Amino acid sequence: MTLDELFGLAGRTALITGASRGIGEALAQALDAAGARVVLAGRDRQRLEQAAASLQNNPLVLTADLQTPEGPTTLAREARAAAGTIDVLVNNAGGSWNEALGDVDDETWARTIQTNLTAAFILTRELVPPMVDRGWGRVINVASVMGLVGDTHSSAYAASKGGMIAMTRSLAAELGRGGVTVNALCPGWVETDLVSGLRSDQRFEQRVVRRTPVRRWGTPADMAAAAVFLSGPGAAFMTGQTLVVDGGLSATW
Ligand SMILES: NC(=O)c1ccc[n+]([C@@H]2O[C@H](COP(=O)([O-])OP(=O)(O)OC[C@H]3O[C@@H](n4cnc5c(N)ncnc54)[C@H](OP(=O)(O)O)[C@@H]3O)[C@@H](O)[C@H]2O)c1
Repeated sequence: MTLDELFGLAGRTALITGASRGIGEALAQALDAAGARVVLAGRDRQRLEQAAASLQNNPLVLTADLQTPEGPTTLAREARAAAGTIDVLVNNAGGSWNEALGDVDDETWARTIQTNLTAAFILTRELVPPMVDRGWGRVINVASVMGLVGDTHSSAYAASKGGMIAMTRSLAAELGRGGVTVNALCPGWVETDLVSGLRSDQRFEQRVVRRTPVRRWGTPADMAAAAVFLSGPGAAFMTGQTLVVDGGLSATW
C-alpha cells in the first residue's frame, strides 16, 4: 500500500467554502498538497485570490454569499460550470453571532441557520448527484465542538452545528451505497478571525488554554490532516462520523 493509495487526491476536484482565510484556507492548502484541484469559494474575491496564489494545481476562485437564499444554488451551478466535476465538497463557511438568549432576534437566528446549515444542505443536494453517478464522492461538513457540548451565548450557533452533525449521519445512511461518504469535522477552539473578539478577552483566552488538554489554542493547520484523511481513498469505509480535532477539550470536563 502506498501513501497515494491512502491519501492521494490527484485527478480530484474539491470545492471548499469559506476558503479565503482561517480553517478553509488551510484546508485548501492541504487538499492541493494532496493533489486535488481546489475551487475556493467565499465573498471576498481579493482574499480568495491571495489564498489561491500559493496553490499548485490550477485552482479556481468563485464568489458567493451563502447567507442569501440563492447563494448556495448559484455557487453549485457556477462550480459545476467552471470545474466540470466536483468530487469533494467541504462545507466550511460559517459565522458566529453569539448572543444571550434574549438578544438572539429572528434575523440573527435565520442568518446563523442559513449560513452554517442551510447552505451546506443545498450545496450537498446540488453537487452530490453527479458524485453518485460516478460512484465516488466525499462530503466534509465542518461543524464544531459546540454541536456536541453546550455553552452560554451559543444557542443559535450550537443549533446550526448540531444540525450539521445530525444531517451528516442521515446523509451517510442515504449516500453510502452510491460511493459517497459524508463526515463531520469538529474543530475545537482555533485561532482565526471568527474568534478574534473572544481571544482579545484574556480571561477567556486563558480559560480555553486551561481547559484544553494539549494546553493551547488550535491553529488552522491543525485541521488539515483530518480533512486530507476524510477526503482520501483510504477513508472509503468511514462515513456518518464526527471527527473531533479539539486538543482533547471535549474528552474532558
Ligand atoms: N475558529 C474556531 O474556533 C472554530 C471552532 C469550531 C468550528 N469552526 C468552524 O470552522 C469554519 C471556518 O471558521 P474559521 O474559524 O476559519 O472562520 P473565519 O476565519 O472567520 O473564516 C470564515 C470563512 O467563511 C466565509 N464566509 C463567512 N460567511 C460567509 C457567507 N455568508 N458566504 C460565503 N462565505 C462566507 C469567509 O469568507 P468571506 O468573509 O470572504 O465571505 C471565510 O472564508 C466555520 O464553519 C466555523 O463555524 C471554527
